[in-house]
Amino acid sequence: MGGPYRLVVLPGEGIGPEVTTAARRVLEHAARAEGVEISVEEADFGIPALERHGSYFPAQTARVCGASDGILLGAVERGGLLELRSHFDFFANLRPVRSIDCVLDASSLKPEKAHGLDILFVRELTSGIHFGPGSRGEDERGSYGYHTMLYYDAQIRRIARVALEHASRRRGRLTVAHKENALPHIPWCALVSEEAAGFPGVEVENLLVDNLAMQLVADPGQFDVILAGNMMGDWLSSIGGALVGSIGLLASASLNEHGLGLYEPIHGTAPEIAGQGIANPLGALGSLVLMLRQWEEDLLADRIEQSWRRVLEQGYRTPDLGPASSGKRVSCEGMADQVIAALAGAGASHV
Ligand code: IPM
Ligand code: MG
Repeated sequence: MGGPYRLVVLPGEGIGPEVTTAARRVLEHAARAEGVEISVEEADFGIPALERHGSYFPAQTARVCGASDGILLGAVERGGLLELRSHFDFFANLRPVRSIDCVLDASSLKPEKAHGLDILFVRELTSGIHFGPGSRGEDERGSYGYHTMLYYDAQIRRIARVALEHASRRRGRLTVAHKENALPHIPWCALVSEEAAGFPGVEVENLLVDNLAMQLVADPGQFDVILAGNMMGDWLSSIGGALVGSIGLLASASLNEHGLGLYEPIHGTAPEIAGQGIANPLGALGSLVLMLRQWEEDLLADRIEQSWRRVLEQGYRTPDLGPASSGKRVSCEGMADQVIAALAGAGASHV
């Protein structure tokens, strides 16, 4: 509590620089108004880092991030991301999915199914198939490739404790995504159930991931916290984007055991709209809100969250959220301006 804090911004590629610039501007305005001191520094990451320093994740960037209190990442296609997550052991990826009443019409679900959703995906982020041994080879049957899903029991236990902890502070329900009918050597269900003994207030349910994916679309209101390994968590949490209307709204926090966090919108680089200035900055801004909560700066977090909700209620929309009421279609910077105006109760400059 209290600061001063050091934030490192890694704009990355595609729409990453646009959304981080917009989100950072809102944070800086809000922090100034609340008297919270946050210094912000940018560092090279992804393709721009490769071009300038010959590495997607240069040592200099690792150093700056290591000395910070939090890292905001825009987006990268692939290069550097797994290395960054692994370097700081950001194993606990939290992806909250909450529906917003005034944008229910953008959801792929009927409004009554989308209304009131509040799901937290807890995804293991530094192990599993993203990190297991893999290669390409050739034998008498031809060329082949493989990736390996490998989990130490201890890695499952520690992410299970994070998920149980969150469930115990929420509605007390944890759903474990698994595929033990085909992958029996990674016993998520038994390991989570052993850890759950320490959380008597949490009811644990195991669901095969194929069923879970269907239930997420058919009846998402039943879920509170969903725990999944790296790959299943990646795929399931993206469904969350369709539930609430746009993946552009979704934020994430990835924490290590010391509470240092990497904060990223869960969308990708969106090359088809990059450079047009029309990306939705609310996923990046929501990620900064998660960072503020991790810092226990709840007043500032509440203030930003209330402001962007008000802007959506007023009808302002980036194009990913569907039709805007007349005159209320906004660009990425325009959305940031509106949020800043809502913070200060003043008018906005960009359209
Ligand atoms: C995500 C992304 C990444 C992942 C990619 C870019 C490697 O899809 O963060 O959801 O699979 O973790
Ligand atoms: Mg993904």
